[in-house]
Amino acid sequence: MVKSTGIKKRTVIFISGNGSNMKNLIKFSKIKNSPIKVDLVISSNKKSSAIQYLKKNKINFKIFNFRQKNKDERKIINILKKRKTQLICLAGFMKILSGNFIKRFKGKILNIHPSLLPKYKGLKTHERAIHNKEKFSGCTVHFVNSKLDSGKIIIQKKVKINKKDDPNTLSKKILKQEHLLYPKALKKILSKT
Ligand code: GRF
Repeated sequence: MVKSTGIKKRTVIFISGNGSNMKNLIKFSKIKNSPIKVDLVISSNKKSSAIQYLKKNKINFKIFNFRQKNKDERKIINILKKRKTQLICLAGFMKILSGNFIKRFKGKILNIHPSLLPKYKGLKTHERAIHNKEKFSGCTVHFVNSKLDSGKIIIQKKVKINKKDDPNTLSKKILKQEHLLYPKALKKILSKT
């Protein structure tokens, strides 16, 4: 578990895609009583549109494509050690971290997933939920362990699936809720009381 000392946790965000959750977490980190301070962003995708945002907002970032996963993870571990990273937030990060990496930061890695876990682990969550005629889907923030999308659940938000929803409309509705849920999860695990 992440112990809170009342000082903002030095947090690194890992991304691969558009980075809307990342931007949202950065905004959240700037709020006065926020429990986190975003120290660095690691992107597995040099073409991510989030890179422009990071440059513009003068936020440290590094790119690792994870093609040589062990090598990249070793470099990242060294960087995080030097920066005394206290928390890692995966936000649309599409690479699978090794068991060794996860062990190294045990209880300090969080992920957001666009389904009501344990349902629909992995990819294409919206397609599968609609295909199965689910009435609800949603999003989950959880601790990361060595099994994909299987760590302890911190918080979830249900989202209704309407008859008219397709994967695209559903993903937009859920993403909106993700932006509310990730900060809520951080407050939940890092609040002093
Ligand atoms: C989100 O739905 C997240 O849950 C999933 O990928 C999407 C990433 O969106 N893992 P963004 O990059 O944060 O905009």
